[in-house]
Amino acid sequence: MKIVLLGPPGAGKGTLAKKLKEDLGVAHVSTGDILRDEISRETPYGHEAQQYIDKGFLVPDALISEIVEKKFCTDQHELSKGYILDGFPRTVPQAQEFEKILEKSQVGFDFALYMEVELPMIILRITGRRSCPHCGAVYHATRRPSKEEGICDVCGSHLFERNDDNEDTIRHRVNVFMESTLPIVDYYEKRNLLRRVNGNDDPEEIRDKLVNEDKR
Ligand code: AP5
Repeated sequence: MKIVLLGPPGAGKGTLAKKLKEDLGVAHVSTGDILRDEISRETPYGHEAQQYIDKGFLVPDALISEIVEKKFCTDQHELSKGYILDGFPRTVPQAQEFEKILEKSQVGFDFALYMEVELPMIILRITGRRSCPHCGAVYHATRRPSKEEGICDVCGSHLFERNDDNEDTIRHRVNVFMESTLPIVDYYEKRNLLRRVNGNDDPEEIRDKLVNEDKR
């Protein structure tokens, strides 16, 4: 399985990707996680990206494309066995750049999966999100809580709330999604490379749908 996940913030891209990684053994490449890691290590990429992320803007196409190209060319062998790309592409120029990256790395690509979710659900999900800084596990304070409040089930670290997970920034990120990312749903649809799923469904249900469709 070599797929790109498309969807507004809070659609459940990260949650589904982690499930697919765990159950199918495919790699999970999240551009949001890569950028947050660059920020925490105070790298030049991180310094540049932070000002955009905290306000809910997209980081520049050139910066993120360079990061993804490096990843695909370095981890070519692992990614050729299967990957879930979560958070890229997010603009039409990034989708065009992704085609060049695929050509260069020869990693392959199956389709883009669009996870559809409405705004009230997005706000409910993101304001309750709790993330693990160590292993990347994602919880929801009330809907998918960790066993012990504030503690990661997987590695025991203290969970945190992301800086960009406040209601104002979320509304802005949703607007950015509508303006900049929705056009690539059309981009993949026109190329017959798009599948849609309901982001309100459980990640387990979506996984089963994908696996069963693949067998047909
Ligand atoms: P990124 O980290 O990619 O954020 P995002 O796209 O806004 O998506 P989220 O991580 O907020 O949501 P998600 O869909 O993964 O939902 P999750 O599974 O966590 O990017 C952050 C920033 O980095 C961007 O704003 C931008 O600045 C920059 N960036 C990244 N890539 C870029 C690019 N290519 N170009 C330019 N800039 C880029 O779920 C959310 C919550 O809901 C969780 O609490 C979860 O437990 C719960 N949940 C999930 N699924 C379900 C379900 N089915 N039922 C019930 N609860 C659920």
